[in-house]
Amino acid sequence: MAARASLDDPGIYELDAEGMGELIAGFPGQVREAAELAASIRLPGYRELPRGVAVVGMGGSAIAADLAAGLPRQVPLLTVRGYALPPFVDQSYLVIASSHSGDTEETLAAFAEAGQRGCARVAITTGGRLAEQAGDAGLPLVTYSYAGPPRAALGLSLLLLLGTLERAGLRPAVDLAPVLAAVEEVASRCRPESPSGSNPAKQLAGELPGRIPITYGAQHLAAVARRWKGQFNENAKSFSAWEELPEADHNAVVGYEHPRRAPVSLILLESQEYHPRVALRLAATAELAAERGHPVHRGRAQGRGPLTEMLSLVHLGDWVSYYLALLNGVDPTPIPAIERLKAALADQG
Ligand code: F6R
Repeated sequence: MAARASLDDPGIYELDAEGMGELIAGFPGQVREAAELAASIRLPGYRELPRGVAVVGMGGSAIAADLAAGLPRQVPLLTVRGYALPPFVDQSYLVIASSHSGDTEETLAAFAEAGQRGCARVAITTGGRLAEQAGDAGLPLVTYSYAGPPRAALGLSLLLLLGTLERAGLRPAVDLAPVLAAVEEVASRCRPESPSGSNPAKQLAGELPGRIPITYGAQHLAAVARRWKGQFNENAKSFSAWEELPEADHNAVVGYEHPRRAPVSLILLESQEYHPRVALRLAATAELAAERGHPVHRGRAQGRGPLTEMLSLVHLGDWVSYYLALLNGVDPTPIPAIERLKAALADQG
């Protein structure tokens, strides 16, 4: 209770020296702006539909691809997190690089390999070497500006990726009005001015200090569970994990026993779109975890439909990770561990 009360104390927000709260609050506006920008994307007329799409990217820029893969589309879409493309990606594939900075070495390496294999290529970035290389090669380049870190630009990276897929004839255009209405509703309930008593993000964050959150999702929300994990890591500087149902019912559930009194908390993302058997599994899994003594919480989507559920839960999770950062006594924005590793690797040539 003490932890919850402190999130209503304006003093705690001094920890947020670089303004992550404002960036998260800007998410609905960012989605709207990104949709307008996406309408101006122009691609060359490809002669035929690609056999598949590979999106190369890392971290906060890769999650857009995982989310897109959970939505209706014409061909398989895979996310490549690493230096090399799978062997089956050939000239019949469209390869899209998603890198906020444009300087992520794994993304640059996989994108260059796609060029050597003769794949059609598109780059989505704010600039960096990726923009230079795409410009030099005369490739379609989708650029945007954003004054904040990659993970806070998910509205842009996702909507620009979806726009690119639409332009390539790989997915239908969608009406964003209900999506925005749901995200705005979450924004208004979860913002710092909304008191703990009626703020689901503050309430959930208040349950998590000292614990390892493990987020569970299924189908289109599996990628959202992964997003929550990444945001707990980067914003709250916390250990975290994610699981996908129904797969977790075939392994993770057995591991609820050791170590004894492990400080884990499960967060189950709920959906009205789940297969009826998955909904049953969610309830049964919650019961099993509770019997083993693990706290179980729920993440409830706002609105209907896969994209609406996804984005409303992404936004809820961003707020939960933000409040957990404050309760952990850390500034949500800096990510010194990632920067240190990038610098160490850059020093190795
Ligand atoms: C930082 C973040 C990271 C980066 C990742 C790749 O906010 O979320 O996970 O997204 O290090 O960098 P970019 O996105 O610049 O290619």
